[in-house]
Amino acid sequence: MDTFDVFDPLFRADPYPVYDDFRRHDPVHRGRPPTPGDHDSGWWYLFRYTDVAAVLKDARFGRAIGPALDEPHPPVPAAEREPFWDMYAHWTLALEPPEHTRQRALLNSAFTSRVVDALRPGIAARAAALLDDLIPRGRFDVVADYAFPLTLSIIAELIGIPQDDLARVKAWSLTIAAVLDYKRTWDVMAAGNRMTREFSAYLAEIAAERRARPAADLITRLQTAGGEVESLSEEELVALCVMLLFAGHETTVNLISAGALLLLENPAQLALFRARPELTDVAVDEFLRLHSPIQATTRIAYADCALGGRLIRRGESVTLLLGSANRDPAAFAAPDRLDIARRPNRHLAFGRGIHYCLGAPLAVAQGGIALRLLFERCPAWRMTTAPSWSETFGFRGLQSLHIAEI
Ligand code: HEM
Repeated sequence: MDTFDVFDPLFRADPYPVYDDFRRHDPVHRGRPPTPGDHDSGWWYLFRYTDVAAVLKDARFGRAIGPALDEPHPPVPAAEREPFWDMYAHWTLALEPPEHTRQRALLNSAFTSRVVDALRPGIAARAAALLDDLIPRGRFDVVADYAFPLTLSIIAELIGIPQDDLARVKAWSLTIAAVLDYKRTWDVMAAGNRMTREFSAYLAEIAAERRARPAADLITRLQTAGGEVESLSEEELVALCVMLLFAGHETTVNLISAGALLLLENPAQLALFRARPELTDVAVDEFLRLHSPIQATTRIAYADCALGGRLIRRGESVTLLLGSANRDPAAFAAPDRLDIARRPNRHLAFGRGIHYCLGAPLAVAQGGIALRLLFERCPAWRMTTAPSWSETFGFRGLQSLHIAEI
């Protein structure tokens, strides 16, 4: 490939040889924007671990929409920015300090390792209940029947969304994934705007209910957060709940299903995983490294910067291929090999720097619990169809993973 093309079906099916090629021959690649219609003033792709890690930590590269550069980003005409991008503008990931610091201060306490440890028994109970229902069927889809309902119900409960509403929430969440992916079309954008109106109205109603009758959930907590941190506006509150719901399960589903696939493809590693429960979290890091649920994230250069012998100019966009960095042989020995005991494993699947994933402890806990229970309860199950990967590029995950007792 001379130009990096995220729409190439061969790349979709197996991105890793393409990453490998660019890492060797053109690691700081100047190419076309991934989304047709996005501004073409200069779009860069970084493939090497050191470059990706450096940019994630470099304040000269940021996420801000507009103010830092006096131009809209993503560069969608103003009429189309309403209302999805207006909501997105409140997401933690779209902010720069000091607004970013303020929001993280509000959210951090809800996602500490201590909070997550308290959630573990509930996650295990829910996973076990799902398996109780699925195992007698003799076959099921790890993605749709297990990983999706598990992760969605956990994050919904944490936020304060009633379990009866999960079908609606699932549809909204899939729309967000499509809008945030690089393969965005005008139809997808219109659906995103509709979804934003519906989802916001729905969440505003729940927020009003909790003001009247507080509960032990995040919607209540974020509305009553006080002290030294300024509280949130209703618009911000709704936007953060949408963000957490989406961020809190879409990627974790992909972690669980990719982990299951890697173990099913590697029987010796599966035997080791089953025999050594103490390796669970280390193994989860290895699944995240090999099939990173977020393959790419983008930054804007706030200043001219030299990188790998190239000059990235102020205002140009830089897409960081986390999935490529995580298989860079300069950072990981035998990078394409699954080694569930790999240590150290400083993968970039959760990012790095100020936007480092807020939910990393929760994701690792859910992934570990879900996979351990799955292989304890289904020790002799096999894949029944070849796995197929999603159409999206930034969020990469299995569409389905059918297994059966054979
Ligand atoms: C396997 C699961 C997950 C993966 C691979 C993942 C990955 C990431 C990555 C790569 C980033 C940084 C993006 C960037 O710098 O451009 C990020 C940020 C974030 N993640 Fe996750 N995530 C996962 C699960 C979760 C969960 C469970 C939650 C919440 C409950 C969550 C909430 C967030 C939030 C709020 C941010 C933005 C943080 C900020 O801007 O300061 N994520 N995640």
